[in-house]
Order: sequence, then structure tokens, then C-alpha cells
Amino acid sequence: MAIVLFMSLDPDSKKWLTQRLGANVKFDEPMSKHTYFRIGGPADAFISPQSRKDLFEVIDWSRQRELPYMVIGNGTNLLVKDKGIRGLVIVLTKCLNKITQTQTAKEEITVTAESGVRLQTLCRHAIKFGLGGMNFAVGIPGTAGGAILMNAGTSYGSIEDVLSSVNVMLTEGQTVRIESELLDFKYRNLSWDKAINTKERDQIIVLEGCFRLWPSDSKELKKEAQEFLQERTKTQPTRFPSAGCFFKNPLGDKSAGQLIEMAGLKGKKIGGARVSTQHANFIINYGKASAADVLGLMEFVQETVSNTFDIDLEPEVKIIGS
Ligand code: EPU
Repeated sequence: MAIVLFMSLDPDSKKWLTQRLGANVKFDEPMSKHTYFRIGGPADAFISPQSRKDLFEVIDWSRQRELPYMVIGNGTNLLVKDKGIRGLVIVLTKCLNKITQTQTAKEEITVTAESGVRLQTLCRHAIKFGLGGMNFAVGIPGTAGGAILMNAGTSYGSIEDVLSSVNVMLTEGQTVRIESELLDFKYRNLSWDKAINTKERDQIIVLEGCFRLWPSDSKELKKEAQEFLQERTKTQPTRFPSAGCFFKNPLGDKSAGQLIEMAGLKGKKIGGARVSTQHANFIINYGKASAADVLGLMEFVQETVSNTFDIDLEPEVKIIGS
């Protein structure tokens, strides 16, 4: 099998991108500026299309040129490695940021959120219009698109409970609507295997999600959301950058946080990365941590938990770059 190494953007590509996107493309852009962890080396080109048209055009162009590209949400669940990302990083928060709603049945309202809408904006929309169903997600950072792809959730529920369909762009540029029955949701994961017959499933771009909500009392929803939020700020660290819970909870009755605490790892440090003393499933950027520090600490935690409890912890955080 031939291995194609992509080095960096050629001058022609840079020229096209600059002419087409102006200030909405940045070259050698540190990803530390675009991740909640505040960690990550440079992306060759960091692109923030302003419209669907721009987005579709850039994707089409990069496919024709065989330039690698990656779509990200707003960097809440990402660890970007120190050497950064070759090719294009495309962020959808400016071009796909609308919410609309329609009454689909007597007791059912479908809210459509484009991929780049922040999940918290969607939660606030639901509360404002008295729509139940979204409060499980209160406090989860990230975009609707990112949340759909990782079936984001809390102990109160997850995306699969409310998503009725998604609209996606396939590798050849065509858009397709997929109903929830064909979406294969697992814990913190969505697989396209049932829905789409293509090898390049990781190139599928979620454009929007339709959420099936129900009429409810706006004041009650607001009260409940405040309680969830208070609970979250009591138990989770907010003072230092992190990417949320670092590991998925394993099968069994103990959460990742419990296991890491029981293994005596609260406060464990490597370089600027530290296991939070407040919630052990958070790795925090305690002071200028590199991705290598975080990865070193991640491996140390995995090894210790495996040696102590014979349980393998799998990262929930998406690790990307070189
Ligand atoms: N616990 C400990 N030590 C710790 C942390 C937790 O003993 O350091 C114990 C808690 O006392 C509790 C149990 O572990 O008995 C579970 O803890 P928690 O309620 O905090 O829930 P979690 O399973 O650790 C999950 C989600 C969080 C979400 C919370 C609250 C995952 C991996 N994490 O955490 O989501 O905010 O429930 O609903 O599913 C995220 O996805 O980034 C995230 C933070």
C-alpha cells in the first residue's frame, strides 16, 4: 500500500484560498487558540467559511486537489498534537449557525439546528420557547454537529434521545437526510455503518440535526437547567482549560473518575498537565501544558488503572494531528 505523506500547502493553494476567502483563512494558525485545552500546534490553513456556498466550494476544491481537510466544532473535545495539523481545518460556527423550528405533531416540535450552532445556544432556545427535551445537555460545551457525532450526553440523557434525523454531506458533495432509525448510536459514539455505504465515512460532514422536542413550561425548564448547571460547577473543574471528561466511562459500576481517584491519581502531574483534584476524569492544562504532557499523563493513568483494576480506559477526547 502506498503511503502518501502530505507535507504542507503549496503556494498555488495558498493563493486560491486567500483570493477566495480573504480574512477567513489563516495560515500556520496555532490550534491552541481554537481548543478549550489551549493546546495544539499549527494548522496549515484554518478556515472559517461565512456561508454554505463558501463551505461547499472549499470542500469541493480541496477534494479535487486531494488536499486533506478536517471539520471541527468549536474545539471543546479535542487534543491537537504539538506538531499541528497538515492540510485544512474547517470550522462551521459562522456558516452553519441557524436554528429553526416547526410544529410536526400536536405534542411535538422539531427544532433544526445547523451544525455550527453551539449546543448551549440550542439549550437556551429550547428553554426560551418552552420546549422540553434538551435540558440533559445544559452545560455541555461544543457545537450541535460535534455533539451529534459523539452522541454527547450526561447522566440525564444523550443526543440519541432527541435526534430525529440529520442532514449530511457525503464525500462526493451530495447531501442526504438520514432518519434516526438508521443512525447507530452507542455510548459517546455515532456510527454511519447502517446508513451509508462508503469507505470514507470519516469524511462525512454533518450539516444539521433535527431534534424532536415537546411543549413544556419555560419557567420550569429554566429552573431545572439552573440546578443541572449548579451541580456541574460543584463537581467539575472550571478554572483551568480542559477538554471535559477525558475518558469514556467503562462498562461496570465504577465511573472513570472513580477508578482514577481510587488508583490514587488525583493531582498527578506531568509537565503542565494534571489530573484534576476536583474530578479525576478531567486532565487540566495547569500551566502551559504541551500535548505531549497530556498524552504522557493519559498513558500513565491508563497503565495505572489497568494494573490496579484490570480495566482499560478509552479516551473520550478526540486526539488529532501529528
Ligand atoms: N467520582 C469520584 N471521583 C471523581 C469523580 C467522580 O468518585 O473524581 C464519582 C462521583 O462521586 C459519582 C460518580 O463518580 O458517584 C460519577 O461521577 P459524575 O456524576 O461526575 O459523572 P461522570 O460519569 O464522571 C458523566 C459525564 C460528564 C457529565 C456528568 C454529569 C462521561 C464520560 N462523563 O461524568 O460529561 O457532565 O456525567 O452528568 O460520560 C464530558 O462528557 O465531557 C463530561 C464531563
